[in-house]
Amino acid sequence: MSTKTPFGPEGWTPARIGDLTGRTFVITGANGGAGFEAARILLSKGARVVMMNRSAERSAAAIDTFKAEFGPDAEVSFVRLDLAVLASVREAAAQLLETETRIDALICNAAIAQVATQQLTVDGFESQLGVNHFGHFLLCALLFERIEASSGRIVVVGSNGYKMGDNRIRFEDLNYDQNYSAWNAYAQSKLAQMIFGYELQRRVQAAGKSVVVHVCHPGASRTGLIRDTAGIATRLLAAMLSPLAQSAERGSWPEVMCATEEGLEPATYYGPTRFEMVGPVGVCPLKEFVLDAQQAKGLWDVSEEKTGVRWPVWTTTWYGSPCAHPEIRSILPRPCNCWPNTWRHRPRPETGPCVPHRQGRSDPGGIDACGVRPELRALPRVPSGVPS
Ligand SMILES: NC(=O)c1ccc[n+]([C@@H]2O[C@H](COP(=O)([O-])OP(=O)(O)OC[C@H]3O[C@@H](n4cnc5c(N)ncnc54)[C@H](OP(=O)(O)O)[C@@H]3O)[C@@H](O)[C@H]2O)c1
Repeated sequence: MSTKTPFGPEGWTPARIGDLTGRTFVITGANGGAGFEAARILLSKGARVVMMNRSAERSAAAIDTFKAEFGPDAEVSFVRLDLAVLASVREAAAQLLETETRIDALICNAAIAQVATQQLTVDGFESQLGVNHFGHFLLCALLFERIEASSGRIVVVGSNGYKMGDNRIRFEDLNYDQNYSAWNAYAQSKLAQMIFGYELQRRVQAAGKSVVVHVCHPGASRTGLIRDTAGIATRLLAAMLSPLAQSAERGSWPEVMCATEEGLEPATYYGPTRFEMVGPVGVCPLKEFVLDAQQAKGLWDVSEEKTGVRWPVWTTTWYGSPCAHPEIRSILPRPCNCWPNTWRHRPRPETGPCVPHRQGRSDPGGIDACGVRPELRALPRVPSGVPS
């Protein structure tokens, strides 16, 4: 089963990237796997790459490899970052802001997965939620203004694992103190990252900020992701399935695409399109619960509280109340919150009425990502004065 490849039968490839001289890309977890390969591709196009890694030794080895390949003048450096430690994230962000005057893209690539038994970070978070989500949430907040000043991007690397757990954030038991399972906790952490990515996308759009946010996944790629963390059964399963997976280099393409390609769409999940595991890079299906604005608000609030960071005031958004216009409500499959520039209705406090909004991308004509049925599109604009 294939999904959409807007870049032709081959999908997106790095051949589409132009000269990146003068542009700076920051990648978390770039000393191995997909992050390393993403760094390699960006360096090959002349970019400057800052790796944010937890191991100085592995980072030095990666830099040696890159310099051997691209020459001693290759612009690649390393900032020490341990996403499992909030203090380290703060230190790393401060260091980066001192040295880098621009950030064209921050690629949130680092992760741990399938941690066999429940472990807590020093800040008291379940390890996968702590590293994958809370660490990146804080890092993005601390670097946001520099990325905004650079008209840059934030790329969230998700995983199809997001839909292989509870399909929701367990606000009542974020750490899985009850019934911990490696799968469910990993799934929650990747779901949290993706919910955050799309929520940030909405907030940035609503506030008219220049930062572009995209969410992607590498499919099934041969990397060291579960080597040190998973239980024996998961590792055996992964070894058996390994021949079906793609190379780490191919796995890096979606994140490189999201960091460089123009004209990508919001509310879209990019990755390999063959069974969502391998093959041409394009658009993959996205479960509706990832875009649920209420859950996103809850996650945002709890993430601010746990990390102690406050995003600027513009994150207090004007959406969230379901539309009350009877004609629209009657055809909505569920209460739907706004998303600028899409077909969704959007309650706007400043004007009152809900306005069906045309989205910029081609929509296949079925139910769109928010679940609004095609009839909504045929509705005339709701006259002002209609209560919403
Ligand atoms: N491989 C797949 O099939 C697959 C599938 C779905 C999603 N993904 C996603 O793809 C992304 C890349 O993963 P990968 O497959 O390339 O795995 P990988 O080879 O294990 O790379 C993960 C990177 O994250 C770093 N990292 C781990 N914990 C960290 C921490 N506390 N602080 C800073 N960095 C840390 C690792 O550094 P160390 O070298 O120090 O461990 C490593 O560089 C992840 O977001 C993952 O969830 C992968």
